Amino acid sequence: MNQAAKLPHPLTTPLEQIDVSDPRLYEQDAWRPYFARLREEEPVHYLADSAFGPFWSITRFEDIVAVDSNHKDFSSEPTIIIGDLTEDMPFEMFIAMDPPKHDVQRRAVQPVVAPQNLADMEGLIRSRVVDILDNLPVGETFDWVERVSVNLTTQMLATLFDFPFEERHKLTYWSDIAAGSPEIAGGDVDPEERMAGLMECLETFTRIWHERKGRENSFDLISLLQRDPNTADIVERPLEFLGNLALLIVGGNDTTRNSATGGVLALNQNPAEYDKLRANHSLIPGMVSEIIRWQTPLANMRRTATRDMEFKGKQIKKGDKVVMWYISGNRDESAIDKADEFIIDRANPRHHISFGFGIHRCMGNRLAEMQLRILWEEIMQRFSFVEVMDEPERVRSNFVCGYKTLPVRLHAL
Ligand code: HEM
Repeated sequence: MNQAAKLPHPLTTPLEQIDVSDPRLYEQDAWRPYFARLREEEPVHYLADSAFGPFWSITRFEDIVAVDSNHKDFSSEPTIIIGDLTEDMPFEMFIAMDPPKHDVQRRAVQPVVAPQNLADMEGLIRSRVVDILDNLPVGETFDWVERVSVNLTTQMLATLFDFPFEERHKLTYWSDIAAGSPEIAGGDVDPEERMAGLMECLETFTRIWHERKGRENSFDLISLLQRDPNTADIVERPLEFLGNLALLIVGGNDTTRNSATGGVLALNQNPAEYDKLRANHSLIPGMVSEIIRWQTPLANMRRTATRDMEFKGKQIKKGDKVVMWYISGNRDESAIDKADEFIIDRANPRHHISFGFGIHRCMGNRLAEMQLRILWEEIMQRFSFVEVMDEPERVRSNFVCGYKTLPVRLHAL
């Protein structure tokens, strides 16, 4: 992939050459017309040659739901990202497993996001949000990504794992490198650095595991894994242990972080919506769902066909990669009214596809929504305007749709 070359034209490039796995499309925020064309002209599209090998793209909302709901024909093994696994790092994580193993491992960690646990966490999250917001400079330009989005989600992760609070920045670092290597999703993290970082992650959590053994009445993720008979010995299977740690770290981090930034950007680009919010703070819960749809923090999930089949008139072969583009499904006018617009008071705001569907549907969706709701409730108590001062710098990845920086300036109420 030549990073310097111009992007191919979305309308004149031959259909069979349209490559939506090119990470520059997301870095340059240029993806919309490519997907609009695929949805219109070839919603189940085959690309024979890409930096990640051949793959099918599923771009319409209903077709994505159909694939995501059918784990028998569309397996999550061996991986759910477009790139192939490198042989030296065959991660195992339950997002990339089929039943029954998937179900057993998901069940072990699910209690961390049970309604009661979330309700118990709400006060702590709110106090951390308040602390972050009260320490921001008013009237000066600063980076929202670093000071708010990263800070908030890192603190949240440290809470979920009961990770040493003063070392919590390590969680952010591991999250960034876990999903950022070029062969995985087109990112720019050096593979050697990635490997070294992940090894440090494994060592750190292995130490925490042994120190924590036998702790009672604790609902952090490590204690939950230890207490469930199906995962009580997971530490003895390092690749599985590491894989699931990486899943929970990336799952809880990048996604929410980028929604916390995306919301600020969306409101700045749509001033009339910001006015609606100023006039009526009860719109916040619906707005949070709309932000998550508009941002689509994970662009896609990949499946692998388990048999030869016909799907929407196309012949998919056993072993083919099938990529569900959530980022496109969320802009599908046949499923969502005015799908390209950001509208904070939609009638049915949770009708989006950012959390996926079926047995792998995001485990942390309610937690993410809660964090973002609290963030906006507290922002609106303090600031009349979080003003975007310049273009954001976006992440180069075809998987994580996010921001490196967003310069903003706060206006007090
Ligand atoms: C706005 C924030 C978030 C978005 C957009 C998001 C998105 C997703 C998506 C698209 C999937 C795969 C769904 C599928 O294959 O059908 C997923 C799975 C998952 N997410 Fe999230 N996520 C978010 C926040 C979180 C948080 C805060 C956590 C932390 C607990 C989390 C943990 C997980 C886990 C563990 C899985 C794997 C579920 C499984 O395979 O059964 N996510 N998420």
